Amino acid sequence: MRYQYDTIGERFAESKTTAAFSAADTHTLLGALDELGGVRGLDTLDLACGYGYNTRLLARGGARRTVGVDISAEMIRLAREHQTHEHGTDEHGTDGHGTAGDRPDIEYLVADAAGLPDLGPFDLATAVYLFNYAPDRTSLHAMFRSVRANLRAGGKLLAIVPNAGAFPRVDWSPYGVRILDRLPEGDAPLLKAHFLTEPPVPFEFREWAHADLAEAAVEAGFTTIGWQPTRTPPADPVRDEAYWTAYRAWPVSSLMTCTA
Ligand SMILES: C[S@@+](CC[C@H](N)C(=O)[O-])C[C@H]1O[C@@H](n2cnc3c(N)ncnc32)[C@H](O)[C@@H]1O
Repeated sequence: MRYQYDTIGERFAESKTTAAFSAADTHTLLGALDELGGVRGLDTLDLACGYGYNTRLLARGGARRTVGVDISAEMIRLAREHQTHEHGTDEHGTDGHGTAGDRPDIEYLVADAAGLPDLGPFDLATAVYLFNYAPDRTSLHAMFRSVRANLRAGGKLLAIVPNAGAFPRVDWSPYGVRILDRLPEGDAPLLKAHFLTEPPVPFEFREWAHADLAEAAVEAGFTTIGWQPTRTPPADPVRDEAYWTAYRAWPVSSLMTCTA
């Protein structure tokens, strides 16, 4: 079976490293990891890992074990390729631990997050834009159950999830993504969108309400569920304070934190 990210492939990497909403998501995730005391020594699982952007952040942060899972074989191929190219140094040309060569290997796996095998247990799972690809409520609930089953008691899930209800009122195109249409069908509306790379890349996802996500987390056995607004990176001459203030008024995403 071919999945949409098998086709999007490397174009997604272009969006990830240039889009403002992705910069805000990374800033938000790193802030949340800091508040948890960092990942050093933790067993970590990155779901919907794509080409491994966040997976490498976990490994560089000193995680004891890092596993990246994605349903797209092409994205996992790209993740492994990036890992090979960056081995020993990170994107800034320095080693994440201070000395070259001591970064733990990342294990990558092609699997559906709605039916994960027993991979853990893990202390921490991240899921940056996973749940919006659940095609129906059964899959959404199965994803949360799969994550919960792979976490230790007290383990955390940090998920970046889209905010519902923006289309057609809000224009996210200055931030790297444009919603073109919203089709009410099935268990959650289908959103048709473009990543605003050159040329734009079409993709589609489901608009789950935050209440649907919370309900699935509770049903899966998570004991606490919290929400935080997206944080934005420091202003610079290109993306100044006014730009980020406008973004925070209607951001693309929120951070959902669940405790197993
Ligand atoms: C927007 S990309 C995000 C990738 C990565 N988290 C990041 O932030 O760079 C969404 C990813 O979710 C993956 N995905 C979609 N449905 C999935 C599922 N059921 N199980 C695992 N991965 C899935 C896609 O293949 C794609 O790589």
